[in-house]
Amino acid sequence: MVKTGVSLVVTICALIYPVHLLDNGLAQTPTMGWLHWERFMCNVDCVNDPHNCISEQLYMQMADIMVQEGWKEAGYEYVCIDDCWLADERDSQDRLQPDPTRFPSGIKKLADYVHSKGLKLGIYQDVGNLTCAGYPGSHGYYDLDAETFADWGVDLLKFDGCNFGTLDILVEGYKNMSRALNATGRNILYSCEWPLYLWPFHQPNYTDIRQYCNHWRNYGDVYDSWQSVKSIIDWTAIHQNLIVPVAGPGGWNDPDMLVIGNFGLSWDQQVSQMAMWVIMAAPLLMSNDLRSIDPKSKMLLQNKHLIAINQDPLGRQGYRIGRVNSFDVWERPLSDGRYAFAVLNRQEIGGPRQFPLLLATLPSWKTCHPECRVTQILPSYQDLGVQNLFSALKLTINPSGTVLFTVTLNKGLAAEQKWNWNMTKKRKTPNSVF
Ligand code: GLA
Repeated sequence: MVKTGVSLVVTICALIYPVHLLDNGLAQTPTMGWLHWERFMCNVDCVNDPHNCISEQLYMQMADIMVQEGWKEAGYEYVCIDDCWLADERDSQDRLQPDPTRFPSGIKKLADYVHSKGLKLGIYQDVGNLTCAGYPGSHGYYDLDAETFADWGVDLLKFDGCNFGTLDILVEGYKNMSRALNATGRNILYSCEWPLYLWPFHQPNYTDIRQYCNHWRNYGDVYDSWQSVKSIIDWTAIHQNLIVPVAGPGGWNDPDMLVIGNFGLSWDQQVSQMAMWVIMAAPLLMSNDLRSIDPKSKMLLQNKHLIAINQDPLGRQGYRIGRVNSFDVWERPLSDGRYAFAVLNRQEIGGPRQFPLLLATLPSWKTCHPECRVTQILPSYQDLGVQNLFSALKLTINPSGTVLFTVTLNKGLAAEQKWNWNMTKKRKTPNSVF
């Protein structure tokens, strides 16, 4: 009887407030994978550049390598298609279709192939009439397109916001596609660019966005340059009070792709991008050529200590806690009371500089009371030993480089001290005059 009453209330509520929230259980930790855009862009010239053009072969090769070369084992799971996969027209039943010469086997076959490797397939579409590169958009076809993706076995949709027309179409379109994906019954991770396209008009409502998307781009496209990576980091810090609180399991701020392993970043800048994406709890979507990546960049991207911090189950995004003398200091709270810190040397002139760190000055100083274990992870792994609040650590940081370290309460010692303290109290009791 009670049960019937409850389900009646639920049904009535569902009728009044239609169920529209993204309910796919995905992205409990930031998404990890590979996305073609920054490295391969809209290269559709398979005649002259068959090795690098947007074709089924490119994703199959990436999938093969992700398995063979330890990427999958490290946690990279999604192989993602970006813009320029589509044919110029929908088919006779208005269904999307891939370019027939570059994807002769079709997307379903490609998804099967990627799945056979234990990986997942991502695809790209746009909320408006045309994608950013001018291919048919999803406007007017949200349900049909979501069903098509589900039929094909797609696991992630990157939904762009070019050519949206009116703001209503933009906002309603993102919501409608979210509902449409939910309605397919297939768990399709939903990657949005909704806030990025709203910012020129007004401040986005992030609580709303989080209800519909698994991650969302806030800022312009990443380029293969330090200037670009820096501008994303700075934008994030400037807006952190607004965007950090909404991030957490199921929904993340997306600062765009990792460009590590390409041409534009020095080694120290690659270290900085990785460190900051880890601290920002960012999706780790690499855009590089896994077929020819240099071993050092590969080691950085596959570093298990870094990935563990990025994927920390507490799911809190880090934030900038201070800027001093051209050093930026960031902190990210981790599970079990641990913290990760990153100190970025902003100076782009001169040589390595020392950053004197007094643990007592950190907002999270309690982690070092009475003692903590400090472990440097970048630029190289180094146990910095057991420290206390007044230990003066000297971090040496290259221009545009970052030192990343974790701080863990020294539990052994803390427990021992507590035990001693309790024993002292216990011992005292019998002798006590009271
Ligand atoms: C926009 C997006 C990029 C990429 C391109 C494709 O610029 O922000 O990430 O998807 O479109 O055209």
